[in-house]
Amino acid sequence: MLGRSHRSKPGKAKLKEAIDRTRAVLRVPAEYRIGIVAGSDTGAVELALWSLLGPKPVDVLAWESFGEDWVTDVVKQLKLKESRVIKAGYGALPDLTQAKSAHDIVFLWNGTTSGVRVPDGNWIRNDREGLTICDATSAAFAMDLPWAKLDVATFSWQKALGSEGGHGMIVLSPKAAARFESYNPPWPMPKTSRLTKDGKLIEGIFEGETINTPSMLAVEDYLDALKWAEKIGGLPELMARADRNLAALAHWVKKTEWVDFLAADEKTRSNIGVPEDRRSVVHGARQRGAGESRDQHRQPFGKRRGCARHRRLSRGTAGLAHLVRIDGGNGRHRESHALARLGLRAGKGKLNRCPRFSFPTICPLRRLRSSRSAASRPT
Ligand SMILES: Cc1ncc(COP(=O)(O)O)c(C=O)c1O
Repeated sequence: MLGRSHRSKPGKAKLKEAIDRTRAVLRVPAEYRIGIVAGSDTGAVELALWSLLGPKPVDVLAWESFGEDWVTDVVKQLKLKESRVIKAGYGALPDLTQAKSAHDIVFLWNGTTSGVRVPDGNWIRNDREGLTICDATSAAFAMDLPWAKLDVATFSWQKALGSEGGHGMIVLSPKAAARFESYNPPWPMPKTSRLTKDGKLIEGIFEGETINTPSMLAVEDYLDALKWAEKIGGLPELMARADRNLAALAHWVKKTEWVDFLAADEKTRSNIGVPEDRRSVVHGARQRGAGESRDQHRQPFGKRRGCARHRRLSRGTAGLAHLVRIDGGNGRHRESHALARLGLRAGKGKLNRCPRFSFPTICPLRRLRSSRSAASRPT
């Protein structure tokens, strides 16, 4: 398909296949629409915020940097007067019960940069009046997303599934679709964010027509990742792998004195997010400095810096370990295996020589891609 137009018959069929396989793997209900949009997950989230917000008060939940981005969008960019920001610091979740069902609610399923996720969707009412707009980019394919609780969910291909970046997925409930068609925002909308024409959703978008040109190479790669996901057992196995990897890391954290999870409450601990940066956060676990108490070390923005190699590794990476790939197919918790896949070294190796940060962070994407066929072999 490379070199063929995405508007050609076979090109469109590939895009439709990506939508259909996404629906099958993620078990998205038939009445929900799925579209491929520009600008990766950010493009999908912002399309939803710009298109849908305004008619109702908005509650934005934030507990790490990406949630803060959506706060900026709602409060500073869209300047929605009737908005409330419900926040918590790194390692915690805000009080979810503060979010009102009469309001639109904007939140992340998994806070990638703190390794803290919502434990479930029970705090969202089934009879809510407002819409729930959920950035699920690092949750989709690794966590159970209760579709009945989500009106808009977004994600991108390069996150949990470890595919190529560039494209965003947007999943719309019938209620979200109705808002698209009944509400016309008072601000201008750029073309890449327009899902409607003459007050109606452009249905072709949910059948594989894209607003602008996608990368057919990335589409092939996403299809390959989806087929891989189906082959290994679909969503249950993807989630189980992520859980097994969390268990392996938790086991290691438990017996390692100088490291701890950032997520204070076990129920909110991400099974996929491996926050990384100079805070030295590994799977939401941060290296504890000498003399620091467990509480002290939860301050995420320490001033300490790692060695040059660590800094290099910290830059420009996707911020996720794609843990669903890390654990081998045999179901055993092989800690050294899991750590190796994370790009970590237990006890020896170059990276451990960094005086500050023994554990860099994540598997580069390419390494995961090339290791897909040899998923059970430590590198
Ligand atoms: C929770 C969350 N939201 C949004 C983004 C941005 O995603 P993208 O680069 O696909 O736009 C990320 C990236 O890691 C993320 O983790």
